[in-house]
Amino acid sequence: METVPKIPDHEITPPNVYFNRRSFMRAGLVAASTISSVSAYRLFNPARTKVATTTPLAGLQQSTETESDLMARGWRVAEEKTPESSVLSYNNFYEFTTEKEGVAAAAKDFSTDGWQLLVDGMVAKPRNWSIDDLHAISPPQERVYRMRCVEAWSMVIPWAGVPLAHILESVEPMPSAKYVAFETLFDPSRMPGQLTDVLQWPYVEGLRIDEAMHPLTLLATGLYGKLLPPQDGAPVRLVTPWKYGFKGIKSIVRITLLAEQPPTSWNRYSAREYGFYANVNPTVDHPRWSQATEQRIGESGRRKTLMFNGYEEQVAELYKGMDLTQHF
Ligand code: MTE
Repeated sequence: METVPKIPDHEITPPNVYFNRRSFMRAGLVAASTISSVSAYRLFNPARTKVATTTPLAGLQQSTETESDLMARGWRVAEEKTPESSVLSYNNFYEFTTEKEGVAAAAKDFSTDGWQLLVDGMVAKPRNWSIDDLHAISPPQERVYRMRCVEAWSMVIPWAGVPLAHILESVEPMPSAKYVAFETLFDPSRMPGQLTDVLQWPYVEGLRIDEAMHPLTLLATGLYGKLLPPQDGAPVRLVTPWKYGFKGIKSIVRITLLAEQPPTSWNRYSAREYGFYANVNPTVDHPRWSQATEQRIGESGRRKTLMFNGYEEQVAELYKGMDLTQHF
């Protein structure tokens, strides 16, 4: 048995225990403490499960900008990328299972053939998009972003995708559109987790329109230069790197522009624990654990969590004058 550095159990308990008190009750205390040490082991040791995605993402753009310009934009980060095997085998996707290391297997047959993404609401030109349509209007770009989960673990992931702003601009938002709502596919025959009541389905998320239009905000269709695999949210998911990972809604079928702030899944589950904004903030703790540090998957020792996950320069302006302890 490998030894792992001592970290308090509350910082390493897996999300299905944090997030799903009902399964916590079912699992019982003995199981829960066993899960904690298994989880700790995993955090320090990238998963060895072999999970392959083999389909290269066609048309991935090579940037003409220098590395330092890309870093100034926040589109690259000078930190080691998380091994692909961990990105593909350590997931949260409750439509399939609440077991992080079971998502890849549970989702492996999820077919996204013929996927349509509807963009509607307060726009002049509502439209259905195929994934090829998204790429036709904006060829996929690579973005190497930090990803910080609210559970205090993190990764560095080379995403590929289309800036959400490009898609929204092309449907022409009305001036009255102030928010953007996102919705995951609802189809329990293909997403068996939707037969359970761990969350209210479909999974929904939302952004303010200026957040949605921000140049960091990506509709990801790939990672590690390949098409997004089912467990990471195929065929299209949201990536907002300055926010906690749960904002990154997966397998999106609908994006709707609205005048009012839309409901969001984890906020609906527990409003005092999961806010609408969910900006990474080391000074605002989760009611049940500290957000000051994080466990980078594959590293030993903990890192300090950075304000806005290290994207302060790019996004702080969006929240000027707001009390971030209230709007967490
Ligand atoms: N989207 C949907 N539809 N369902 C989910 O359960 N989990 C969220 C987010 N998006 C989730 C989701 C959470 S809690 C996190 S941390 C990230 O996806 C995890 O993304 P990853 O598995 O690609 O690392």
